[in-house]
Amino acid sequence: MRNLSIGIFDSGVGGLTVFKEISSLLPGENLIYLGDTARVPYGGKSAQAITRYALECALFLLTKGIKLLVIACNVSSAYALPLIKRRFPIPVVGVIEPGVREAASVTRSKRVGVIGTKGTIRSGVYENYLKRIDPEIVVISKACPLFVPIVEEGLESDEIAYIMAERYLKEIKEADVDTLVLGCTHYPVLENVIRSVMGSHVKIVHSGKETAKVVKDLLEKENLLSRRRKGEHRYFVTDLPESFIETGSRILGRKIDSVKCVKQMDFRYIFFSS
Ligand code: DGL
Repeated sequence: MRNLSIGIFDSGVGGLTVFKEISSLLPGENLIYLGDTARVPYGGKSAQAITRYALECALFLLTKGIKLLVIACNVSSAYALPLIKRRFPIPVVGVIEPGVREAASVTRSKRVGVIGTKGTIRSGVYENYLKRIDPEIVVISKACPLFVPIVEEGLESDEIAYIMAERYLKEIKEADVDTLVLGCTHYPVLENVIRSVMGSHVKIVHSGKETAKVVKDLLEKENLLSRRRKGEHRYFVTDLPESFIETGSRILGRKIDSVKCVKQMDFRYIFFSS
């Protein structure tokens, strides 16, 4: 069991920000990443569609023989985590709770901004979790729907990223928060832009590192940590791999040299035969 891989998925390249932290904390683990590039972005879709997509991605990874699943996508975690956790025979980790815990521990003024896709913000999940930890925390949230396509297109240093960040972050800046949660795994790619708009006094929280720690603790607890020195990394996408390779290599800081394209058909086969 300990030799099996960790499965990680997102709608696109964003989850690689989490993948990167997991691979640096757990270099001996085999990692399998799936980016659902045929259907990205998920953020503007209905709860039903997001749940189905997330379930299909999770099932695909399960058939690859994994010992733990990471839903490296906030909007999928928001809508599908409880269902997948209930149905899957392996530990399943989402990215929302780790980020929430970190935000609640770093805020001093108890004024916290949350940015994410439309679906994540609409779900209210960050606000609920933050308030559960500390009812005095005031949450100011804002959907930033164009951030994901900007990242997927590799435009994180382009003027368009700054223009949209100024526009999206205006209310949160005016609300005088001391902490901003990046509630989408694509957003750490825009961290420099977001920081320059918010100012250096605002703490920026994203869940990659915390999620990696949760994964390590869980594997330790279940006695499932790999004993290898160096694990293998495999990547799958559901449509053309070119821009995934380009943007993904920038995110990881190393070249992704092989990506396999999965057909939607495979998903359907898995879905109906399971
Ligand atoms: N990276 C994803 C998230 O964390 C989703 C982006 C999208 O597909 O809209 O929510």
